[in-house]
Amino acid sequence: MGDPVLLQVAKPVEQFDTPELQALLQDMKDTMAALNGAGIAAPQIGVSLQVVIFGVGKNPRYPQAEEVPYTELINPVLEPQSDAMEDGWEGCLSVPGMRGVVPRYTKLRYRGFDPQGRPIDRTVDGFHARVVQHEVDHLLGILYPMRIRDLRTFGFNEALFPGQQLVDD
Ligand code: NI
Repeated sequence: MGDPVLLQVAKPVEQFDTPELQALLQDMKDTMAALNGAGIAAPQIGVSLQVVIFGVGKNPRYPQAEEVPYTELINPVLEPQSDAMEDGWEGCLSVPGMRGVVPRYTKLRYRGFDPQGRPIDRTVDGFHARVVQHEVDHLLGILYPMRIRDLRTFGFNEALFPGQQLVDD
């Protein structure tokens, strides 16, 4: 947080299935894995392109956590399916060590392309919808603290959730 690239609107990808795009995705994948993240957007590694990846597997430590399939999503477009929103805790790899309560649309249709240029079209809700909205915000130059409505819900992980290991987006 503080790097100007995180405040820019990212450019759309124009060519699919290229070595450059594959290299970017590999770099994002490695970074997300090394930092134990739930998702990451290209601007978070300094590349202002409309590329996000996300995914949350089954974790025995969090049996109640919803699974999100691993997805590589390019040039995404979001379409909320109603005005309903819900509050939830979020963290971010670009705002390390912190958490805040952010309102997000409950149900969402998202469209975009995979790295080969094949269309992706899904309607999702809950945690999956939250992760997608968080990642796509990165492409619009928006970080989650900008969406917190009550800053009293913003703080350090060890103060808010002592002793817990948390994943970031
Ligand atoms: Ni993030």
